[in-house]
Amino acid sequence: MLRTHTCGELNISHLGQTVTLCGWVQKSRDLGGTTFIDVRDRYGLTQLIFNTDTDATLREKSRGLGREFVIKVTGDVIERASKNTKIPTGEIEIAVTDIEVLNAAKLPPFLIEDETDGGEELRAKYRYLDLRRNPIRNNLVLRHKMAQEVRKYLDKLDFIEVETPVLIKSTPEGARDFVVPSRMNAGEFYALPQSPQTFKQLLMVSGFDRYFQIVKCFRDEDLRADRQPEFTQIDCELSFVSQEDILNIFEGLTRHLFKTVKGIDLVELPRMLYSDAMRLYGSDKPDLRFGMEFVDLNDIVKGKGFSIFDNAELVVGINAKGCAGYTRKQVDELTEWLKRPQIGVTGMIYCRYNEDGTLKSSVDKFYSEDELTNWAAAFNAEKGDLMLILAGGADKVRKQLNELRLEMGNRLGLRDKNTFAPLWVVDFPLLEWDEESGRYHAMHHPFTSPKPEDIAMLDTEPGAVRANAYDLVINGTEIGGGSIRIHDRGLQSLMFKHLGFSPEEAQKQFGFLMDAFEYGAPPHGGIAFGFDRLASIFAGLDSIRDVIAFPKNNSGRDVMIDSPSTIAEAQMTELKIKTTV
Ligand code: AMO
Repeated sequence: MLRTHTCGELNISHLGQTVTLCGWVQKSRDLGGTTFIDVRDRYGLTQLIFNTDTDATLREKSRGLGREFVIKVTGDVIERASKNTKIPTGEIEIAVTDIEVLNAAKLPPFLIEDETDGGEELRAKYRYLDLRRNPIRNNLVLRHKMAQEVRKYLDKLDFIEVETPVLIKSTPEGARDFVVPSRMNAGEFYALPQSPQTFKQLLMVSGFDRYFQIVKCFRDEDLRADRQPEFTQIDCELSFVSQEDILNIFEGLTRHLFKTVKGIDLVELPRMLYSDAMRLYGSDKPDLRFGMEFVDLNDIVKGKGFSIFDNAELVVGINAKGCAGYTRKQVDELTEWLKRPQIGVTGMIYCRYNEDGTLKSSVDKFYSEDELTNWAAAFNAEKGDLMLILAGGADKVRKQLNELRLEMGNRLGLRDKNTFAPLWVVDFPLLEWDEESGRYHAMHHPFTSPKPEDIAMLDTEPGAVRANAYDLVINGTEIGGGSIRIHDRGLQSLMFKHLGFSPEEAQKQFGFLMDAFEYGAPPHGGIAFGFDRLASIFAGLDSIRDVIAFPKNNSGRDVMIDSPSTIAEAQMTELKIKTTV
């Protein structure tokens, strides 16, 4: 080893020892007679001192060291005159007796400090420098710890980690595939896996019984704060289990991670029906850090001559507690925010429950104070509250009110990053109607089993068929999803039929899986957690980007290596890819 210690471990107990440290120059302060240099590595920061006791050439050399030079120093651990109680090494410093520059460094394009002056684009271009900063590195250390704990927990429960291929054939999970041309099979393409779904099911047919993998998945979809084109799943599958068993085992994993990594004891996870989540929160991933449940007003507001309410399929609202003091301007600003095309409301009705006990709505012409008292009762409103109401088509208006609820949660400071509200959402519909293609799509994926008691409805009322499918939601983010699978060729064929596949198409795409089901497929089910999302929630971040060492930007580019990029004409020819210009 070039060093005897790291830059984070020396303290008063090492006084008098001669040590050698290696690291990067964090900063240098030249106070005339004395020069201080902070040397940094992954473990911490140690102060070096060069003063009149130091050899003159050495002192001179220390003055030539720039930020981020890589150095090796030897010296004696001495007690500091002025101590820094904020860092573990703050009571000591090193009186340097020898220094070697291992590598010089150009001036970095931004400050390598906890608070940096570098913009996002610049930091992305020099990601390797950004990764030197504590906040970013700490995220990756956290991620590492989580991965270790995942492995420990699952290994103890007899899960076997198996790697599945990355060059596969497309599995329909809703997103587009990234494809890879095959040189040896001209005109043919592999697809990168959107998830190892079919492989993990085949491992169940092979008798592996309990499988897991911390695995890269690839989806060519529009990017958002919680979506990357390549991301990592904690992917799991089990045989001979019920939905209840899976929920318990993975609630256990969630609890284990919170306990071991964050020191938090979670209470038992609530379970909510998908239908209730949509009714009460307008979302299949409700943020339960706060209440503000939807209040259905259809029964009390219709038939009073207010056509917007009368003509709406659903009139629904939330109670913004303590917001009666919102000025007209604030309410208008909120309405404008809702009118943006992303949300698209046409208008918002409100009713103030003033501190003096009076009720004042924006539709006073149609509703007497007595009627408003009924509103207040429905909202469970108290003096000082503000009722916010939207009207329209049921599905649309619920989605819009969900946005408003989350926004009010933000404005009222109810979405604290250090509060965790996990829950299971269960009984998802099996199918969802897709306007664009004019047919039903699998809501989770086509291998998900309908609830046996609902199978008869597949022909009559497909949209009402429920699935044995469940999501783990934390703080309004979908962290994981899974289901009990179909393990029977007949039912799988029926499912493909309902998804609009001809028997030939189904056989061509998924014959391998349906054939396997004929060789003794056990009943099985599973789940996959989005590891990046879970890590970003643990780290208290809004985006998954900073729990990924080398993420892509919003256009799917890696600006550091400048990818994607064009390839040479010769490569194209070899791959038999034609260019059309
Ligand atoms: P699903 O498609 O729900 O299920 O994915 C599982 C979890 O992966 C995370 N996730 C993502 N994270 C970051 N970027 C993305 N682009 C992205 N897409 C998904 C989410 C999600 O809950 N094979 C099934 C699982 C199963 O049935 O066992 C599957 O992939 O947190």
